[in-house]
Amino acid sequence: MNTAFVNGAYLPLAEARVSPMDRGFLFGDGAYEVIPVYSRRPFRIDEHIARLAATLAAMRMDNPHPAAEWKAIVAELVARNPWEDQSVYLQVTRGADVKRNHAFPGPEVKPTVFLMSEPLPAPDAEQLARGVAAVSAADIRWLRCDLKTVSMLANCLLRQHAIDHGCAETVLFRDGFLTEGAASSIFVVRDGVLRVPPKSHLMLPGITYDVVLELARTHGLHHVVGEVLEAEVRAADELWMTSSTKEVLPITTLDGRPVGSGSPGPVARQMHGWYQDFKRTVMRNGG
Ligand code: PDD
Repeated sequence: MNTAFVNGAYLPLAEARVSPMDRGFLFGDGAYEVIPVYSRRPFRIDEHIARLAATLAAMRMDNPHPAAEWKAIVAELVARNPWEDQSVYLQVTRGADVKRNHAFPGPEVKPTVFLMSEPLPAPDAEQLARGVAAVSAADIRWLRCDLKTVSMLANCLLRQHAIDHGCAETVLFRDGFLTEGAASSIFVVRDGVLRVPPKSHLMLPGITYDVVLELARTHGLHHVVGEVLEAEVRAADELWMTSSTKEVLPITTLDGRPVGSGSPGPVARQMHGWYQDFKRTVMRNGG
């Protein structure tokens, strides 16, 4: 049975209920996180909780739980669900008012806290071996893409654009520069150098993005954090998408044209290995 958490109570997901007056439903007025759990240990949970806190602060919302409480809730949810590897979804909205009003409700309206968990499949071996196809599109999102909010219409449209083209992801360009993917960060390799755009209001500060850069530093892989031109993406030797659920996945075609050789490159293979080793070490040491 799939157990969820709603406002302090653990219950079967099928029985979880929130009001249609919830501002998450009416306005997309909420924050979320997706936390990978390996062998029942949440990976990088402190960083996920910190990013949630940053999103809530920018939304001018009080954080309903201090970090220790969030961690206890996640631990309990993981314990109550049957899978060793899980993907924990955590959402906080500004709550349900009695009437619809764009402006914030008063302090009597409490945030809605919802968590659920799903099994987290290991990255697909076939996808890793062959890489995935991507398309590109203009980044049509707003100017606070650094916030992990549930206002996801643009991301949904952009991910569907990929699916409509038989692809796994849409690579986004804004004003001639790479931003990220519809639901992932995008890395480029050219002449052995790893390149990625700097964190800004135009992209989500990915937890996996940070792990990949840490691993590049640890292993002495030459990397540059700086603006990446669309033309540089199109001339890349390797292109990767990274996220908490996909880890490091090579993109081997972009808009129907091969990226580099058209097969996953050596740097992707190396980074994938480092990532797996790092995960194992972190999990051994308690997450
Ligand atoms: N998405 N950029 C966007 C727009 C994303 O939605 C995500 C993750 C990332 C990667 O961030 P991280 O490495 O912290 O997972 C970048 C999650 C997985 C989702 O919405 O399901």
